Amino acid sequence: MTNNKRFAVFGNPIKHSRSPMIHAAFAAQCDVKLEYRALRVELNDFERAVTAFFDAGGKGLNITVPFKEQAAAFAAELTPRAARATAVNTLWRDDDGVLHGDTTDGVGLVRDMVANLGWRVQEQRVLIVGAGGAVRGVLEPLMRELPASVHIVNRTVERAETLAREFGVLGTISAGGYDSVSDGQFDLVINASSAGLSGEMPTLPPGILSERCCCYDLLYGAEPTSFMRWAAQNAAWAVSDGLGMLVEQAAEAFYVWHRQRPETQPVIQQLRGVLAAAA
Ligand code: ATR
Repeated sequence: MTNNKRFAVFGNPIKHSRSPMIHAAFAAQCDVKLEYRALRVELNDFERAVTAFFDAGGKGLNITVPFKEQAAAFAAELTPRAARATAVNTLWRDDDGVLHGDTTDGVGLVRDMVANLGWRVQEQRVLIVGAGGAVRGVLEPLMRELPASVHIVNRTVERAETLAREFGVLGTISAGGYDSVSDGQFDLVINASSAGLSGEMPTLPPGILSERCCCYDLLYGAEPTSFMRWAAQNAAWAVSDGLGMLVEQAAEAFYVWHRQRPETQPVIQQLRGVLAAAA
């Protein structure tokens, strides 16, 4: 047993999680002594596992698929951005034993696009592909960047419409099916559909990208994703996968727990190397 502070990520599956490596790199940079593990939690055991982790002295948890909504429901206090997202990826207990939840995914996405890649969101016409939990998690921080408009397309149109209604107080958001963008001209396209996990690409019509359109995929891997290939074929000006977002959301969680901001660039490079070597 060490005296290191204990952290973990809970998910199912969890085997391929890069979070232990990322947090270890941040901790080394910031001279924080911690232990960070990836733990697989059974689907019906989430709340018990969270309580047991903190009862045993654990300091903080990251939460990933499929538990983010459950974590939001279980936390006693949510940050405003987590309440809006109804999803939590970061948990901690305060000195009074109250369980707090936050979501850092949206901040991670915006920071990667704006600070790391130098892309603009402000005044841009944004297209979001997909309307699942990932979109719900990133919409508020995205809207805070003041895009000109946001259009959400999804295979199941009602889900896109629900999000547009719910987040419409934050700006102009419309919704539709993939065929609702035939005459659209977008400056920024964000793919949040999980179709790419099985190598598929939603059937978006051609000619929807503006001349300097940036295309961002929330997915990442050693090879370009199917969405990234589609973007390149459609003459996107810039294309990125979501590896930077992964590191940035972790950096924000690190900040929530430790009040220190690690350098993300070296960790993004390190992870890029690890992915390439594993390919
Ligand atoms: P996540 O947390 O990754 O957002 P999710 O809530 O299950 O996961 O949402 C998955 C998203 O990918 C949804 O937008 C889903 O479309 P539907 O709402 O129509 O299901 C989309 N998606 C998944 N597989 C897809 C496929 N083969 N073709 C098109 N869209 C797909």
